[in-house]
Amino acid sequence: MKEAVAKLFETAGRALSESLGDPKALERVRVRFLGRKGELGQLFKELANVAEQERREAGRVLNEAKVRLEALFSEALEKKRELEALRSQAIDVSVPGRRPPAGRLHPITQTATEICRIFNWLGFETVEGPEIELDYYNFEALNIPKDHPARDMQDTFYISDDVVLRTHTSPLQVRTMEKRKPPVRIIAPGRTYRRDSDVTHTPMFHQVEGLMVGEGISFGDLKGILTTFVHQMFGKTVALRFRPSFFPFTEPSAEVDIACVMCRGKGCRVCKSTGWLEILGSGMVDPAVYKHVDYDPEKITGFAFGMGIERIAMLIFGIDDLRLFFENDLRFLQQF
Ligand code: DAH
Repeated sequence: MKEAVAKLFETAGRALSESLGDPKALERVRVRFLGRKGELGQLFKELANVAEQERREAGRVLNEAKVRLEALFSEALEKKRELEALRSQAIDVSVPGRRPPAGRLHPITQTATEICRIFNWLGFETVEGPEIELDYYNFEALNIPKDHPARDMQDTFYISDDVVLRTHTSPLQVRTMEKRKPPVRIIAPGRTYRRDSDVTHTPMFHQVEGLMVGEGISFGDLKGILTTFVHQMFGKTVALRFRPSFFPFTEPSAEVDIACVMCRGKGCRVCKSTGWLEILGSGMVDPAVYKHVDYDPEKITGFAFGMGIERIAMLIFGIDDLRLFFENDLRFLQQF
């Protein structure tokens, strides 16, 4: 009987280790050895044939074998559960990682940064001012009194009688000159607001203001600086022209046109068949403005300019609908 039990353990051990990977096999092996008609049960049946004086000892051996065999199986079951748990928690380190979405600068920010970079390189310092502005800085000190017809050109958001959302960045001219003695060379980017909303206008938009004043600054300097800017921004081969215009705070005034970036001056839908695109307003600072900041108009001269950042961005990136800048559609923004 001892030999039979030893043999049973040998085959059971082998069957067990072979069944470990397969959950159903383990149960099959258990039934084969410990089941009602299993191999151990078979040995119990044979007890009847054992000689009487040896039967007691054989029964003890069998009972002991049953306990050990059962322990063996519950151990195997435990091991199997552990393996399954490990497998379910397993991490496949070879799976490629998910890339975190990278943010990027808005095309308006990129354009403003580039404009400022060029003027910084030309010696202009970047300054900023409030978007909620006094009527005085937005209009009055820029030679646009209350009854001035130029106020009609700029549909203003009024907060109170003398407080507005700035309609342009030009108040920075006055704010800066008020604080500093000449010479002054500044560039001022920022948000501006007008009561306007259609395909080519949004109530909020962006401008950059520039100002260069000091002794002996002429219209030639205006042309030189703005020509350099256009060449840096749009390329050295782009034609430009200075066209007479009017602004209350500059005299004389000029608008700058560049040859249409779409048709190179031939005439197309974008330039309305003129071949030219207006990109900025400029002029020699009107002596009336110097009076408000205590500069001596007999000694000090200079020029100012202002441009819409959206307009420049549309030309640089070839965008034909202004509203795209403000819809925050990632499919649009991710292209820049
Ligand atoms: N402030 C003007 C506007 O919003 C633009 C402008 C024109 C600014 C001429 C200037 C300038 O500094 O000299 O339309």
